[in-house]
Amino acid sequence: MATFMMQLENPVKYRDFTLEMATEVVEEFRNQAGTLLVALHKLQAIFGYVDEAAMPMLAKLYNISRAEVHGVTSFYHDFKRSKQGRYTIKVCQAESCQAMGSAQLTTAIKAQLGCDFHETTADGNFSLEPVYCLGNCACSPNIMVDKQTYGRVSTASFKALTKGLASKAAGAQ
Ligand code: FES
Repeated sequence: MATFMMQLENPVKYRDFTLEMATEVVEEFRNQAGTLLVALHKLQAIFGYVDEAAMPMLAKLYNISRAEVHGVTSFYHDFKRSKQGRYTIKVCQAESCQAMGSAQLTTAIKAQLGCDFHETTADGNFSLEPVYCLGNCACSPNIMVDKQTYGRVSTASFKALTKGLASKAAGAQ
């Protein structure tokens, strides 16, 4: 059984945010009530997050208040409000992974990356998030890097994985 996959994915490529491009991206939703969530998802898919500067533009587009736009983006935790790292690492915090040492693993990961949950490493490579069950409990503790799940992760295997990802990211620049 594969327990720890050393498959190195290419980092997700996002565009640098500009208000001009964001305005262009959501223009198709003009006069289409009820499409704010779709527009926000589209912005996040392109830029990796929803920039603060897009809020007034969206409020105007939908003829709603900025507070309403803010309300929607903060209600749905999937919407990122700041630029994300090249890779998003999610560390499972649910029961099965907890039973197999995810709390200690999480502490080691935070120390290694030098950042907490909902933060991005100083080099811009990794954003760290908690997750609650990845459906791979038999191989706990689990993490997910972008869309790839890694099971039976140890401090050492995490170090090796992130080292590989960091050099891949450096090579892709
Ligand atoms: S509890 Fe971690 S994958 Fe299910």
